[in-house]
Amino acid sequence: MALLPSDRNDNMSSTRTTTTAILVGATCGVIGVVVGLAIPPILKRLTLAGVIRSSKNDKSSSSSEEEEGCKSTTTNGSDGTHSVRSGLKNDSSSSIRINQSKLNAFLSTILLKAATTTTTTTTTTTTGGDDDRKLEEKMELVASVLTYADSRGIPSHGSNRCDTYVNEIVAGLVNATADPLVEKESGCCAVINGNNGLGAVTSKLAMTKALQLSKMYGVAVVTCHSSNHYGAAGYWAKLALDQNMIGMSFTNTSPFAVPTRGKTRAVGTNPFCFFAPAVVTTTKVMDRIGQNVPIGWGVDENGNDCTDPKVICQRGGLYPLGGSELTAGYKGYGLGMFVEIICSVLSGTSHVGPDVQSWNISRDGPLHYGHCFIVIDPTRFVDGFEKRLGDYLTKMRNLPTTSDTSNDNDNDSNNSVLVAGDPEKQFENDAIKNGGIVLHKSVAITLKALAVRFNVDNIPPELQCLDENKSKASLYE
Ligand SMILES: *[C@@H]1O[C@H](CO)[C@@H](O)[C@H](O)[C@H]1NC(C)=O
Ligand SMILES: *[C@@H]1O[C@H](CO)[C@@H](O)[C@H](O)[C@H]1NC(C)=O
Ligand SMILES: *[C@@H]1O[C@H](CO)[C@@H](O)[C@H](O)[C@H]1NC(C)=O
Ligand SMILES: *[C@@H]1O[C@H](CO)[C@@H](O)[C@H](O)[C@H]1NC(C)=O
Ligand SMILES: *[C@@H]1O[C@H](CO)[C@@H](O)[C@H](O)[C@H]1NC(C)=O
Ligand SMILES: *[C@@H]1O[C@H](CO)[C@@H](O)[C@H](O)[C@H]1NC(C)=O
Ligand SMILES: *[C@@H]1O[C@H](CO)[C@@H](O)[C@H](O)[C@H]1NC(C)=O
Ligand SMILES: *[C@@H]1O[C@H](CO)[C@@H](O)[C@H](O)[C@H]1NC(C)=O
Repeated sequence: MALLPSDRNDNMSSTRTTTTAILVGATCGVIGVVVGLAIPPILKRLTLAGVIRSSKNDKSSSSSEEEEGCKSTTTNGSDGTHSVRSGLKNDSSSSIRINQSKLNAFLSTILLKAATTTTTTTTTTTTGGDDDRKLEEKMELVASVLTYADSRGIPSHGSNRCDTYVNEIVAGLVNATADPLVEKESGCCAVINGNNGLGAVTSKLAMTKALQLSKMYGVAVVTCHSSNHYGAAGYWAKLALDQNMIGMSFTNTSPFAVPTRGKTRAVGTNPFCFFAPAVVTTTKVMDRIGQNVPIGWGVDENGNDCTDPKVICQRGGLYPLGGSELTAGYKGYGLGMFVEIICSVLSGTSHVGPDVQSWNISRDGPLHYGHCFIVIDPTRFVDGFEKRLGDYLTKMRNLPTTSDTSNDNDNDSNNSVLVAGDPEKQFENDAIKNGGIVLHKSVAITLKALAVRFNVDNIPPELQCLDENKSKASLYE
């Protein structure tokens, strides 16, 4: 079975989009902090629910696939959720470990094969080495965005998306060879036309432009239109961090949340990520264990509170951050609109808010996602920003804690106050220390099935013992 979206569980895809928002990176001896608009537990839980649902409902699945799906995700609800989220779980029955660069190479080979299979039918004449190399670079970038998420313990945005990306390319919904272009530029502002190319390729150009402009002007704002799914928001903000700049990354997504007082999906999960350089070096383990979907996460088709993730995913929708009006869900709704405005209204993209199509393969043509990237050079504002931020983070982490370790679903063996990004950093360290990132087995199986489908011959040994036939049949071959 697969964790991967089909046109039947598009909801999962949208749901996953939310996770992106909390990420932290470390480069140049600098640690970043990220503040994100995210609802990770919903993510985990609903993603899991989507998995269960899709495997049970897939009439074309054999019963063994169904069992496989249930085994890895539902044998124990909380364990299943845990392993979906947690890269730290050393459980070889539900996960494998694989070196990140090896996985990068594998994914980019799969993507490349898919793209060339697709494009050679239309452009048989392009045999130019330059074009080939350009396409290879695009696929390497996409692969690195995916494995970055895996390495940060955000499997919802990792390799499991490879299948969707491949199917979008094969279906001609995304143009893998398209090059984005800078369409407008004045002062510290620029607009990128993604030309319906890969979201990662568009975002790379946008961040490159934003970094260049921010060095000249101290701040830069770059929007993108006609783009596609851009992966984990943090990947892009981290590019700024790598140059000691403050990075912000925003994207709109297909609608999945209902507006406060509304009952139909109209607001995307619209993640954003804020990433700033700081000089502190504290990390700690945080372990999240899922239980049930509490009230306040989603609604049914009538807009009423709902605790059944399947109903939320299939017929209802997510609450904005905060839940219902009573618990200040209008704040999350406002944040969602804020992201929508700077990503789609401001960029000039043709589909805004409720008009954005579902992220599925049976959609009608391009998605027209919009993104926005903001880069700020802190040295233009204050001396010693990194030290000041580091001191602030330390102060937060050292605040007195509650003695109640069992409220919420998140457990934390150390129980100190965290700042956003601490758990992700832990996953990254674990991957470095233990020789690779953790992939959920169902994801690995699907990758293997993709490799078999596109005749990729360098399947890493870590995947060789897996049975690709246990993967959910792809609907788009
Ligand atoms: C599975 O989870 C349930 C609660 O959801 C718990 O009662 C049960 O003990 C767990 N089973 C195992 C084997 O951990
Ligand atoms: C996982 O297993 C490896 C060895 O296989 C070990 O070094 C590591 O400490 C384990 N990690 C955790 C979190 O238990
Ligand atoms: C995809 O992009 C390439 C390169 O820009 C272009 O030549 C081709 O026409 C595009 N394909 C479609 C279907 O737009
Ligand atoms: C796929 O997306 C299109 C466009 O938003 C929508 O009309 C269609 O209902 C979706 N299909 C499924 C199965 O969700
Ligand atoms: C949280 O962790 C503590 C210490 O490791 C453990 O005693 C406790 O049972 C855990 N709580 C939950 C809800 O898992
Ligand atoms: C808990 O974590 C904080 C911050 O990471 C650290 O300062 C503290 O020493 C840790 N406490 C224990 C008991 O490990
Ligand atoms: C992964 O493999 C590359 C080269 O293949 C190596 O340089 C790197 O150290 C490996 N990473 C880990 C975490 O083992
Ligand atoms: C998967 O199925 C194909 C076709 O039935 C078969 O050739 C292949 O050996 C199977 N793979 C495994 C690992 O069983």
